[in-house]
Amino acid sequence: MALIKWTDDFNLGIESVDAQHRHLVEIVNKFDEAMCKGKGSRVMNEILNDLVGYTQEHFADEEKIMTEAGYEGLKRHQAQHRQLLQKVERFQYEFNTEHRRVTSTVQDFLKYWLTSHILKDDKAFAASRQEQPA
Ligand SMILES: [Fe+2]
Repeated sequence: MALIKWTDDFNLGIESVDAQHRHLVEIVNKFDEAMCKGKGSRVMNEILNDLVGYTQEHFADEEKIMTEAGYEGLKRHQAQHRQLLQKVERFQYEFNTEHRRVTSTVQDFLKYWLTSHILKDDKAFAASRQEQPA
């Protein structure tokens, strides 16, 4: 079973961001599946690279939309993005250099990050957007 099941609750109503979030959920599910199947380090490495690369791209796009919208919570949101990315990059580093096993902590973190960040923090931005007069 997929680690994260996409539901309509995840939708912000911002098409490009929703599509990117769906893709991130796919990568995290792929990562989880590979881990459960005990896939080798080459596969895990590829998925982690994918995750880090796509996350960087996605955060940059999301922050651009927030900047253009003049979002007042931008600074705080950017700090959260930085923190999340640093953690994922840390996992990647540990995996590559110390050949540390990817543990369930990583899964938990990824699940928490995606679900909680999208449902709470990204949604707060989407809501603030709707409050603005057209
Ligand atoms: Fe975000």
